[in-house]
Amino acid sequence: MQNPERFFITGGKPLQGTVIIDGAKNSALSIMAACLLTSEVCVLENVPQLTDVYSMIEVIKTLGIQVEWKDSNTLYIDPDDFNNYEAPYELVKTMRASFLVMGPLIARLKKAKISLPGGCAIGARPVDFHLKGFQSLGANIVTEKGYIKAEVKNLVGNDIYFDFPSLGATENIMMAATLAEGTTMIENAAKDPEVIELGTFLNKMGAQISGLGTDIITIKGVKELKGVHYRIIPDRIEAGTYMIAAAITGGVVEIKHINPYYLKSCIVKLEEAGINVDNKEDDTVIISNSDIIKSVDIKTMPFPGFPTDLQAQFMSLMSIANGTSIITENVFENRFAHAGDLRRMGADIKIEGRNSIIKGVKKLSAAPVMASDLRGGAALVLAGLIAEGTTEISRVYHIDRGYVKIEEKLRELGAHIRRV
Ligand code: EPZ
Repeated sequence: MQNPERFFITGGKPLQGTVIIDGAKNSALSIMAACLLTSEVCVLENVPQLTDVYSMIEVIKTLGIQVEWKDSNTLYIDPDDFNNYEAPYELVKTMRASFLVMGPLIARLKKAKISLPGGCAIGARPVDFHLKGFQSLGANIVTEKGYIKAEVKNLVGNDIYFDFPSLGATENIMMAATLAEGTTMIENAAKDPEVIELGTFLNKMGAQISGLGTDIITIKGVKELKGVHYRIIPDRIEAGTYMIAAAITGGVVEIKHINPYYLKSCIVKLEEAGINVDNKEDDTVIISNSDIIKSVDIKTMPFPGFPTDLQAQFMSLMSIANGTSIITENVFENRFAHAGDLRRMGADIKIEGRNSIIKGVKKLSAAPVMASDLRGGAALVLAGLIAEGTTEISRVYHIDRGYVKIEEKLRELGAHIRRV
């Protein structure tokens, strides 16, 4: 039985004050996996206290590796001698990002046995690019009884082309290629900040990676990697979520520890919608509203395009904007689950394939709704902040996967929200 906790949010309060952004979930997850590539201790700072991070800790511990919190945000990982190369179904099914240990296991132990990650609410989420990449590096891959088994004598560098700039596949192959013989070139690679951070972390370990942030990443294999000390960057999606929360409530919120460059597309779209985004310092922005919220169209795209992980939150904002907005989801095939719940709150949203057409309404009204995935759940919180009455959101465990203390941070900004 999943955690029955729910949120109760009474809408109507403009948010005011300052919010501090925590470490980036998706950067922490891939960097934690990369620690397996060395037999030396790694120390990671600014690691967010999130259930997805706890899941990755469980996976790494299952492999026989010592992991412990040095303080509330510092992880100590000691992958000295481990030999278990299997990540079991019950762990991988709770978090598909566990699949990111496959590259390091193949590189370090020359074999891996990982449960095939299932799909999730936002799509089938296959891993064919990952497997094709490992095969290009010489690994033998078989799928049986829901597990993917990989074995290789020696990984040998190769040229790999991705049909789509997959974030996870770029990360997995990049990690495996660091210890391959010779050079690997990944073409049509993902350019996301999390890929840049992972490559920077690997280079600090002694890897030889160039082209990070471009669509061609080159990795020259090395003999071994050493343990390093690294600080995780702030979470751009958490930051974008609070920017939109400030915008939707018509408040004035200072958001600290953000990298505005990594949020360029979100900032541009908020400004087009009539929201003021002022740079206070280089890692701080202040969000405030002028008057009405204008409807704008967005198309989610791989980085540096508008992030799919902010699509749901932006849909909440557009549901009370002045006019009609078209939101096109180009990254995942089924990422509009939150539209149904927003409709229950009075939003006027039509879904046509990859397009959603949102006709702004004057106001939303509270209703019992259910989070079905991490970012869709966040979108319902944002809608609850402005809906008339008290909105009840169930299955908030989805939201806890990616947001540190979301109800506490929102309460500090003046929101009426409680977890029951
Ligand atoms: C990462 O997922 C993130 N997760 C997702 O964040 C994010 O939404 C996504 O990138 C896109 O930015 C982590 O980093 C842990 P993809 P990932 O591979 O790597 C298709 C969140 O909210 N594809 O870039 O799985 C895939 O089906 C999560 O924190 C293949 O077809 O995303 C999708 O349509 C949700 N075959 C598209 O590519 C493959 O082998 C993009 O997926 C791999 C992917």
